[in-house]
Amino acid sequence: MERNDLCWCGSGRKYKKCHMPIEEKILLHAERGEIVPTRDLLKTPVQIEMIKKSAALNTAVLDEVAKHIHIGMSTAEIDNIVHNFTVEHGGIPAPLDYQGFPKSVCTSLNNEVCHGIPDENIILQEGDIINVDVSTILEGYFSDASRMFKMGKISRRAERLIRVTEECVERGLAAAKPWGHLGDIADAINSHAKANGYSVVEEIGGHGIGLAFHEEPFVSYVTPKGSEMLLVPGMMFTIEPMINEGSPDFFVDEDNGWTVYTIDDGLSAQIEYMVLVKEDGIEVLTK
Ligand code: MF3
Ligand code: CO
Repeated sequence: MERNDLCWCGSGRKYKKCHMPIEEKILLHAERGEIVPTRDLLKTPVQIEMIKKSAALNTAVLDEVAKHIHIGMSTAEIDNIVHNFTVEHGGIPAPLDYQGFPKSVCTSLNNEVCHGIPDENIILQEGDIINVDVSTILEGYFSDASRMFKMGKISRRAERLIRVTEECVERGLAAAKPWGHLGDIADAINSHAKANGYSVVEEIGGHGIGLAFHEEPFVSYVTPKGSEMLLVPGMMFTIEPMINEGSPDFFVDEDNGWTVYTIDDGLSAQIEYMVLVKEDGIEVLTK
C-alpha cells in the first residue's frame, strides 16, 4: 500500500490517514518481540457493521431465553427456543452441526464447565445454575455470548460463584484497552478469581470472532499482564472465562464427546461477551 492509496479497509480514506499509522505502531510493537495481529484480524468498517447486526440478534436470542427459562422445562426446550427464534429472524444457530455438535445452543448446568448438549431428559430443577451459550450466524457474520441463569432459590455457594464470575468479567472488560495486551484481561480475571478462592479453566478459552465462529487469537484467562497479543483497533474477540469453585481441571463426556465437567464435581460458571477494540476504548457488542 502506498501512502496516498485508498485504505485497504474500504473506509474511503487515504491509507496514510487510516490504517497506515496503526500499522506503523503495530510494527514498533512487533520489533520489540510482541505478538501482534495480522491485518486479517482487523475488521473493516463494513464487517463491523454486519457483525454488530449478528450480535444484536444474538442478544435478542438470549433475551428470549431469559423470558422463557423456568424450573421444570428441559434443556431441549431451550434449544427449541433458540433454534426457532434465530431462524425466524433470518439467522442460523452457529453451534448446529459445528464439528458435529448436535444442537443449536450449549446448555451447561452446575458442575458442567461448558458445551453441555440440550436434552429432553435434562429438566431444570430449583437450585440449578445454568449457562446458556448462544452463537449466531447472520448473513455470514458470527456472534457469540452467554449468560448464567439461576433457577429459583440457589445455594449461597452458587450465588457467590456467579457474583464473582460477573465481577471477573467486569474487571476483564475494564482491563481491555487499545494497545494493551490480552494478558492484561487474563490477569484481571485470574487474580480476582484467585482472590476469592476460585480457579480459572486454562485449556479452554475465548477466541477471535466475526468472519468465522472461532478465529485467532486464542484468548487465555490465565496469562500474565502484558503478555499475549497486542490489542489493536478493529480486533474482535470474546471474553468468556470459566470460573471453577475448586480445581481448574476438567474431563470431557466420553459418550457424547462434548460436555465438559469439573474434575472434582465442583460448580462452574461462565459469562461471555463479545468485544470490539476501538481507538478510544472497547465496545461490548453483546450486552
Ligand atoms: N460458544 C462456544 C464458545 O464460546 C463454542 C461452542 S462450540 C459448540 O466458544 F459446538 F459446542 F457449539
Ligand atoms: Co465463545
